[in-house]
Amino acid sequence: MTEPSPVRYHSEGGIAFIEIDNPPVNALSAAVRQGLSDAVARLAGDADARIAVLFCAGRTFIAGADISEFGKPPVPPILPDVVATLEASVKPIVAALHGTVLGGGLEIALGAHCRVAVPGTRMGLPEVTLGLLPGAGGTQRLPRAVGVEAAIDLITSGRQIDARKALDLGLVDALAEETDPRAAGEAEARRLLAEGRAPRRLSGVPAPAVDADAVHAWRAKVAKSARGQIAPLRALDTIVAGLGLPFADGMAQERQAFTDLMQTPERAALIHAFFAERRAAQQDDLAGVDARPIRRLGIVGGGTMGQGIAASALTAGMDVTLVERDEASAAKAAAGIGKMLDGAVKRGKLDADTASRMQSQVFRAVTSYDPLAQVDLVIEAVFESLEVKQEVFRTLDRVCRPGAVLATNTSYLDVDLIAGATTRPQDVIGLHFFSPANVMRLLEIVVAGKTAPDVTATAFALAKKMGKIGVRSGVCDGFIGNRMMLAYRTAADHLVLDGASPYQVDQAVVALGFPMGPYQVGDLAGLDIGYATRQRKAPTRDPRERVPVFADRLVESGRLGRKTGRGYYLYDDASPQGRPDPEMDGMLAGLRTDLGITPRDFSTEEIQARYMAAMVNEGAKILDEGIAARASDIDVVLLHGYGFPRWKGGPMHWADATGLDSIAADIRRFAAEDPYFWQLSPLLARLAAQGGTLAEPKTGKDAA
Ligand code: 3HC
Ligand code: NAI
Repeated sequence: MTEPSPVRYHSEGGIAFIEIDNPPVNALSAAVRQGLSDAVARLAGDADARIAVLFCAGRTFIAGADISEFGKPPVPPILPDVVATLEASVKPIVAALHGTVLGGGLEIALGAHCRVAVPGTRMGLPEVTLGLLPGAGGTQRLPRAVGVEAAIDLITSGRQIDARKALDLGLVDALAEETDPRAAGEAEARRLLAEGRAPRRLSGVPAPAVDADAVHAWRAKVAKSARGQIAPLRALDTIVAGLGLPFADGMAQERQAFTDLMQTPERAALIHAFFAERRAAQQDDLAGVDARPIRRLGIVGGGTMGQGIAASALTAGMDVTLVERDEASAAKAAAGIGKMLDGAVKRGKLDADTASRMQSQVFRAVTSYDPLAQVDLVIEAVFESLEVKQEVFRTLDRVCRPGAVLATNTSYLDVDLIAGATTRPQDVIGLHFFSPANVMRLLEIVVAGKTAPDVTATAFALAKKMGKIGVRSGVCDGFIGNRMMLAYRTAADHLVLDGASPYQVDQAVVALGFPMGPYQVGDLAGLDIGYATRQRKAPTRDPRERVPVFADRLVESGRLGRKTGRGYYLYDDASPQGRPDPEMDGMLAGLRTDLGITPRDFSTEEIQARYMAAMVNEGAKILDEGIAARASDIDVVLLHGYGFPRWKGGPMHWADATGLDSIAADIRRFAAEDPYFWQLSPLLARLAAQGGTLAEPKTGKDAA
C-alpha cells in the first residue's frame, strides 16, 4: 500500500488549496517535494481554480529541508526545482505563513507570487547555523525581495525576524489579522483576484545593484563573527557573485556552493549538535512515566544562582517563593531578580506590565521555610558545603508536603549524601543550573541512586518549561561538565608548570574556537574559588598529583582575578578585558626553579593536543562509567555550558572526527611523562584499537 501524500489538493470557489501536512514541522521530505510538484501540475489543469493558496497544517509553515536526509544521496525532485516549478505556475500562488518559516520553507514562500503572514509568524534562513547556505534560491531571490544588505544580514547570521519586520523589509506582502493561515491566504487570494494581478516572480526582478564598499564592510564583519566557520563567508560570496550573473547562472553557483558545504566537517558537526540537543531529552526508561505537576517553585538561597533561577522560573510563568537567611539577604535577592526582569524588558523579551506583576503577585522573598509547605518543587542554592546543604534538606524534609520534589543546585557535592539527610531520598535530585541561570540554557539533571523515575521525568519537564536543555548525569565529583573542566584545566596547569605561559595557553585554546582560554575564564570567575577547593582537598591529595602552585601564589598575593583588577591578567580602564602582566614570566620562572622544573617550549599544536586529549579522555571515562548515557549528551553539556565551538560538534564528536587512534596515541605519549594524570580511558583504548567511535550506534538521524 502506498503512503498517502503529505500534500493535499482541493479547490473550491475558484481557489485551489494546497495543504502540507507533514508533522511535526512540515519539513520538506522527498514526499512533500513530490506532492508539491504534483499539486502545481494539478493546478495548471484545474479548470475550477484561478489562484492557489499554499498553507500548512499543524504548528508551523514549512520549517525547512528535512535535515535527516542530509548526507544521503538526494532524491528527486530536488528543492530548487520544486521552487522553480512553483514560481513558473501561470496561476498565482499565495503562500500563507504561520509559525516558523525557515530555510527551505522560506525559499518555497519566495517562489510563491505573494506572501501573507498571520500574527506571530517568524521567519529566517538559518542554514549557516547548520554549516550550509540556502540551497533553493534563497541567496538569489531574497536580495531581489529585500535588497542586498538586508539579505546579507539575514543569510550570514541565520537570525529570525518577526512578521512586522518582514513586512517592513518587503519579505512579505501583507500581514493578516486572522490567525488561521488558510483563511488568511483565502482572503489575500480573493483580493488578488479582484485586482486581477499577474504573478510576480522574484527570478524576473532585476538584480539589485551591489555597493562594493558596503559589501567590503559586511565581509569584514562576517569574517569576525564567523571565527573559524566557512559557511557564512561562502554565503556572502554566493549572494554577491550571483547578483552579477543571469538568474539561472546565479542559481547554478548557489547549488555548487551548497553541495560543497554539504561535504564539510563543519556541516556534519553542526547537524550533530542540532540532533544531540533534541536527543538529550529522550529517556527510554521514562517512557510512560508521568511527571509530577509543577506550578509552584521554592528556592532556598538567593545569591547569584538563586536569583538567576528565580528570574528564569518567573519568566516561564511559575509562582516562586525564595527563602533567604535574613531580611537583608531576602531584600537583596528580590532586588537582584527585579534587575534581571528589567533587563528582559529592555531586551524586548518581556513586557513591563508582566514583569511588575511577576514581582508583586507571583514572587515573594521570605526568611521562613514555612511557605515551602505549599510548593511542588524546591531548588536549594545555598553555599557549596555538604553540612550546610544537609541541614537545609533536613529542614525541607520537615516542611515540604509529601511528593514535593527536592532538588539541589550543587556543583560538585554528592547528591546521594544530600538525599541521605532526608527520609525521602526518592524525591531528591540534582538540578545543576549554569551561571547566569536566567541566560544559560544548560541544566544538568543529576539522578541519584534512589531518585524515583517520576522525579527524573519532572526534572525534564521543568527544563522544557523553563526553555532549558536538560541533560541527564549520574552522580560523580563535578557531574559531566565540571568533571571534564577539571581535567582540561589540569592539563593546562601542567603546561604552565612545564614552561608555557598562561597567555600562550589561552591563545591556543581561543584558536580552537573557544570564546576564552582557561586563565581568562579563571580571572572572570574569581581565582579564590579554585584555591579554596585545592585547600579543602589538600589533606587527601594523592602525592603524585601536581599542584598548580602558581595559582596559589596569585591568590595569596591578593590577585583574585577581575574583581581585584589583577589575576593572570591586569585589568584597568585602558584594558578592561585584561592585558598580560609583565611580571608573570618572572614569577613563573622563579617558581619553576624552586620546583626544579626545567622549562620547555610548547607549540600551539602541542598545547591544543593536550587540552583536547584531557577533555576527550575524561569524557570517555564518564561514558564508560555510565555517568552519561551517550556521547552526544556530553557534547551538549560542553557546547552549552563551557563554550565548546559548536561548529566542531562537541568533544566526543570532535574525537570521532579526528580519529580515536591518534588521540589514544597522544595520551600514551603524555603518560610516559606523567602516568598519574594521563591514565588512558579503557573505553577509549578499546575503541581506538577496534577502529570504533564514541558515538552511539548509528540510526537514521545519527547518520548525518
Ligand atoms: N528536518 C527534520 N526534522 C526536523 C526539522 C527539520 N528541518 N526541524 C525540526 N525537526 C524535528 C526535530 O528533530 C524534532 O524531532 P523529535 O521530536 O524527534 O526530537 C521535531 O522536529 C520538533 O522539533 P523541535 O523539538 O526543535 O521543536 P520546536 O517547536 O522547539 O522548534 C523549529 C521547531 C523552530 C522548527 C526547530 O525545530 C528548528 O529550528 N528546526 C530547524 C529549522 C532549520 O534549520 N531549517 C533549515 C533547514 S536547512 C534547509 O532548509 C536547506 C535549504 O536551504 C535547501
Ligand atoms: P552565593 O554565595 O552567591 O549565594 C548563596 C546564598 O545562599 C546566599 O545569598 C546566602 O545568604 C544563602 N544562604 C546560605 N545558607 C542559607 C540557608 N540556610 N537558608 C537560606 N539561604 C541561605 O552562591 P551561588 O554562587 O549562588 O551558589 C549557590 C550554589 O549553586 C552552590 O552550591 C554552588 O556550588 C552552585 N552553583 C554555582 C554556580 C556559579 O557559577 N556561581 C554555578 C552552578 C552551581
